[in-house]
Formats: sequence, C-alpha cells, structure tokens
Amino acid sequence: MKGLILSGGKGTRLYPLTFTSAKQLIPVANKPVLFRVIEAIRDAGINDIGIVVGDTAEEIKNAVGRGGRWDVNITYIPQESPLGLAHAVKISRDFLGDDRFVMFLGDNVIEGGISPLIAQFADSDYTAQIVLTRVAHPEQYGVAVLGNDNEIVNLIEKPKDPPSNLALVGIYMFDHHVFEAVEKITPSWRGELEITDAIQWLVDHQYNVFPYVHRGWWIDTGRPGDMLEANSLVLEELTPHNDGYVDRDSQVDGRVTIEKGAEIINSVIRGPAIIGEQTRIVNSYVGPFTSIYHHVLVENSEIENSMVLGHSKISDIPHRIEGSLIGRRVVLTRSPVKPKAYKLTLGDYSQVGVL
Ligand code: G1P
Repeated sequence: MKGLILSGGKGTRLYPLTFTSAKQLIPVANKPVLFRVIEAIRDAGINDIGIVVGDTAEEIKNAVGRGGRWDVNITYIPQESPLGLAHAVKISRDFLGDDRFVMFLGDNVIEGGISPLIAQFADSDYTAQIVLTRVAHPEQYGVAVLGNDNEIVNLIEKPKDPPSNLALVGIYMFDHHVFEAVEKITPSWRGELEITDAIQWLVDHQYNVFPYVHRGWWIDTGRPGDMLEANSLVLEELTPHNDGYVDRDSQVDGRVTIEKGAEIINSVIRGPAIIGEQTRIVNSYVGPFTSIYHHVLVENSEIENSMVLGHSKISDIPHRIEGSLIGRRVVLTRSPVKPKAYKLTLGDYSQVGVL
C-alpha cells in the first residue's frame, strides 16, 4: 500500500502566517501538521509516500526532505494549480501504479488511532473506504447520507442544505478503480475535480465503498481558531517529558513538555503546554494550552491558550496574552520611548486586538 499526501494550496485563511510559510508546516504542539500526517501513514506500515505540492513546493521539500527521518521514501508530485483533490489523484497515477493507497490531506489533524484502520484496508477487498465524522457545520464539507445498513446512499460536496451532519474527513482509501472515476467526472461549480464526486461515481457503479465513522476529534486547520483548537487537543495527547532546565524558583504543573536546551527561569508553567528547543521563559507565566516553539524568549510576560512560532521575542507585556497565534521572528515588547502609544509594524492581513 502507498500513501498520498496533498500539500498544495495557498492557505489564504491563515494570512499573514501563510505569506511566508506553507500552512502544512505550521507547528501544532511544536510539530508541523504535515509531519504528524507522515507519521500517521508510516505507523500504518506504509513506506512509500507521495506528496502533491504546489506553490510552496520548495519550502515543503526543504522541511521534509527524502523521508529518511521517518524511515520512509518521499516522492514529490508537482500540481500546476489547485484543480481539486480528484485532479491530485489523476496526476499521481504513475507514482501510485496499481497499489492500494491512502490519501491524506496535509492540513488535517485527527485524534490518534487512525493508523490501524488504514492498515486494515490494505488486506480488505473494498474498492474504497471513507472516513466520516459528525460536525456542527456540514455545509463546509463533503457530506454523506448513509442508509439503514450503513451503506452510502449519497455524497454531496458542500451542500447548501445539508441532508446529514456526517462530513467527509480528509482521509480516503482507494484501489486502482478510482482512476476510472476521476477520468469520468467533470469539474464542480468551483472549477475543481471533486474527490467526493469520484467516490459517488464508484458508489453509482456498484463498487464496494465502505464508510467508517470516526468518533474522536478531527480538525481541518484552515483558520486561526482551528489551529488553536488542534493545538489544545494535541497537547492533551502528549506524554510529558523534560529535556531542558527548570530552575529552583520555577514551578511546573500538569502535563508540560520541555524540549532540549529550553530554560525555565523564575517562572510558572501550567500544562498542558510545550516549551520548544533553546527557548527561554524568564519571570513569566505560561498557562494551559500553550505551545512555544524553538528559540523563543518570553520574559516578564504572561501567555496562555496560544501558539508562538520560532525565534520570536515577547517581553515586558503588561497584560496577559490569550488566544493568540504569533508567527516567526515576531518581536512583541513594551515600548519605553515617549510618546506613550502603540508602535506597530504589522504585515498584510495581521489581526490585533488591543485592550
Ligand atoms: C475537502 C473535500 C471535502 C472534505 C474536506 C475535509 O474540502 O472536498 O469533501 O470534507 O476537504 O477537510 P476543501 O478543503 O477542498 O474545501
């Protein structure tokens, strides 16, 4: 069995972070979402993984490399423009050959335990297996209607009036019959070849498509709020460890991971939280559901329920920072020079909420 990860797209809803970084590389609990996807596929026993890349190809290649770190072989498949998930399958045909495969969206985060399901598919005789989960806003997803025997009756991409609340999760398993389906369908109203339509084609042609209803959490990390939510959920799954240094004046409570070279000085860390490599927390408070990535300095400040990416500096902030997503190399300090005012250098699409 092979793995196919889709990692194109511009990530417009995550501007400004995605002006300078591919959305799949934004770290959730200090690990890029894409790395978590690679690990989930590897844990299903799959070593041959193709990654479909678009505009951010170079950055993804630099971050992932050839896969040696995970003991897998990575093949990059360029997609000229984002023409849909079924189009991605079409252009991956040479890589996939006649093997069964799992397709995983590179910006999806799912509660642990999906790997056995993928491994089972390898030995099954299903043509396809889809993963469904109940969501609050089905109109934003592909939606499935199941019959009395749990068979798939109908699949609709982003219906205005959803007939059920069962959404298609961004994990799909197929055998080679899907290539016929992606050839037969036509582009949707949004101009994309929809994988949902290809699966409907398989169902209509009496192929065996099996639905699996996932009961844990699942997040498509499209927007900043989703990122923070995914971060909180993954932090709760982590097994805490301390590879850094905590001084005697500090207090570390709850599930806290302190990565190599990190230093906690005269501070309080309340988990679940993670402090990245070479990061320093000095005279500060880091509250629950916070991830601070590598080479960050937090001093004389308080932060919780937030994510801070690499090489940023937060110092002397008089009010607690909360619910915030702070990018790379951001400097957030109190300005000592008069006049007393906010002095901001913000990139396009930045969002700031002041007291
Ligand atoms: C895609 C699929 C949709 C699925 C969703 C999961 O949507 O088309 O059926 O529910 O991924 O994240 P898109 O991200 O292209 O809007």
